[in-house]
Amino acid sequence: MGKLLNIIASMVPSSVKKKVRKVLYNKLADVTVKIGKNHRFINLGFAGPEKMALQEGDVADRYHIQLYHELLRGVDVDNKDVLEIGCGFGGGCYYLSNYHKPASVIGIDLSNRNIELCKKLNLAFKVKFYEMDAENIKLESEKFDVIVNLESSNSYPARDTKFCSEVVRLLKPGGYFVYGDLFPEAKFKSFVSSLTAKGMVKLSEREITNGVMSARKLMDVDSSIANKPFWIPSSMFHDFMVTTKSNAYKGMADGGLHYKLFLFKKSAEL
Ligand SMILES: C[S@@+](CC[C@H](N)C(=O)[O-])C[C@H]1O[C@@H](n2cnc3c(N)ncnc32)[C@H](O)[C@@H]1O
Repeated sequence: MGKLLNIIASMVPSSVKKKVRKVLYNKLADVTVKIGKNHRFINLGFAGPEKMALQEGDVADRYHIQLYHELLRGVDVDNKDVLEIGCGFGGGCYYLSNYHKPASVIGIDLSNRNIELCKKLNLAFKVKFYEMDAENIKLESEKFDVIVNLESSNSYPARDTKFCSEVVRLLKPGGYFVYGDLFPEAKFKSFVSSLTAKGMVKLSEREITNGVMSARKLMDVDSSIANKPFWIPSSMFHDFMVTTKSNAYKGMADGGLHYKLFLFKKSAEL
């Protein structure tokens, strides 16, 4: 059954897949509002050896915030113009503007409902949010010192072509691109080759799969099964929640999937 679904999925044009994703992310935003949970993050989280000092009110989001913190380790965003592509419910922009001192932050996302939620976050620091596609970003070229992309690129049909070109176009010469996602090794290789062919220099590549798996356990996502609506098959629920029984978790455990963080720099000559 799973194989058949994969074959059918491979026959669906990528433009249709993107529209389906948008509907799903919009639905997720609606469900979040309906159940009254003020979720700000949609990432897997990270638990490393250090416990990050958090501001009041952020403890419930510890592992999600620690993932952003780990992604941005060693990157100076103070007084910089920052763009987050695939900002979800706005938690990353919240982290950037409350734990750092950027000059400006823009968050963009494919889902209009997510952007509506982002705008309701009422961030003390002025962050702008726009509904936009990562593969066709209607913003001025060479505008940003730092571009952030976390757990969003999985659904970009032209990730290695259009998305990479947009990142290079939007960065100022000498600007940084910080990127994190969960993929099989081959997908990272093609992405890195594409970016380096466009003039980006890879400064670092770190695998944090174990820390992501630890976070899933510490967040006790497995217990969410108790709230599963009866009409959703268990396997689908596990996959959606990325519990320890999900395919993504099993992929991380058996070494087929890797959670990696990258830092790239745009050559100053481009
Ligand atoms: C797993 S969530 C991660 C959100 C956020 N980075 C976080 O860590 O909380 C992935 C996000 O990417 C967005 N996304 C997916 N495809 C996109 C595209 N083509 N352009 C912009 N955003 C996209 C989704 O709407 C969703 O909000």
